Amino acid sequence: HESALLDRYGRRATDLRISLIDKCNLRCTYCMPADGLPWLAKEQLLSLEEITRIVRVGVRTLGIRELRLTGGEPLVRKDLVDIIAAIRAEHPDLPISMTTNGVGLDKKAQALKDAGLTRINVSLDTLHAEVFEKLTRRDHFPRVMAGIDAALTAGLTPVKINAVLMRGVNDHEAADLLHWALERGLELRFIEHMPLDADKKWVRDGLVTASEIREQIREDFTLEVSPENRNGAPAERFLVKDASGSTLGTVGIIASVTEPFCADCTRTRITAEGKVMSCLFSSEETDLRGLLRDGSDDDALAQRWKDAMWLKPRAHGADEGIARDEFVRPERSMSAIGG
Ligand code: GTP
Ligand code: 5AD
Ligand code: SF4
Repeated sequence: HESALLDRYGRRATDLRISLIDKCNLRCTYCMPADGLPWLAKEQLLSLEEITRIVRVGVRTLGIRELRLTGGEPLVRKDLVDIIAAIRAEHPDLPISMTTNGVGLDKKAQALKDAGLTRINVSLDTLHAEVFEKLTRRDHFPRVMAGIDAALTAGLTPVKINAVLMRGVNDHEAADLLHWALERGLELRFIEHMPLDADKKWVRDGLVTASEIREQIREDFTLEVSPENRNGAPAERFLVKDASGSTLGTVGIIASVTEPFCADCTRTRITAEGKVMSCLFSSEETDLRGLLRDGSDDDALAQRWKDAMWLKPRAHGADEGIARDEFVRPERSMSAIGG
């Protein structure tokens, strides 16, 4: 079956991101409002069977080569381990990764590994419990630290750490975070804050840019562009060296706003209630859940998914558009889209 998720600009989506649930147990200011959002009811979420069917159609007929599970917070989903095991049973060689805030990971890491999860990315923006509480509006810092240790112990490697720097909150922690990550063999990535916060407080001037982050890190380390760079991945990777020139590890910088990678984007996303989003910033959502529940066959499902991807926007425009004051923010915030 020769078929692929192509778009008008010649890109091909091979990287599937499925949000398992919209709920989260933190309230990060860059992602969710303080009071949370009206959660989806259980029957609005895709079921385990519906998720495995989407993955099957994606892998068997549409050229999906990699799967990432996201949220909300995927660990909040009760049947998470079963979902991973069911996908793994059908696809022995598919890389399956997950992006999580790490709360509760200490208890689940080994079960996730045993079920067939390949690797994990954990969000952590600060090394200080009080800053963590300010950023996430919850006091779960020790649980996240325990979760990261458990992921390493379980071998969900490489464990990557995602850090978003916010001006006036944690913007001086770049080098400290890197020292901490290198000591533990974690791959740290800094992510530019994108205009996807629920409170719509994002302003261009508040952005800690990739170039600023590189400058901060260079006060303590030497950075060299890594030979295995990018290949469509959002993070620009650097080798981190000390004063004597020995390599200590790597660091990534995801410059989604100032140096967007849209031209090389390989992503397709499915929201927790079964809608295709061709892009994080797309205004269109295309429903697959209706087809999953009305007896439609796999060809119909594949066709609707392809039609949705064909209309993928060329770029988000948050770089050049903001300069001209014409950037349009998406209605939904990060947790509702799926990170
Ligand atoms: P790997 O590099 O394969 O480990 O995964 P990843 O970096 O794609 O996944 P992760 O979920 O950890 O995403 C890291 C960050 O990249 C997110 O926090 C987002 O800020 C950003 N990001 C993820 N997907 C997209 C996307 O489709 N477009 C843009 N512009 N940014 C994205
Ligand atoms: N801008 C950039 N990254 C964000 N994340 C959540 N909201 C934003 C935003 N507005 C990140 C989280 C997590 C990943 C899923 O997305 O830190 O690592
Ligand atoms: Fe891809 Fe859209 Fe993200 Fe750009 S903003 S990288 S096009 S998903």
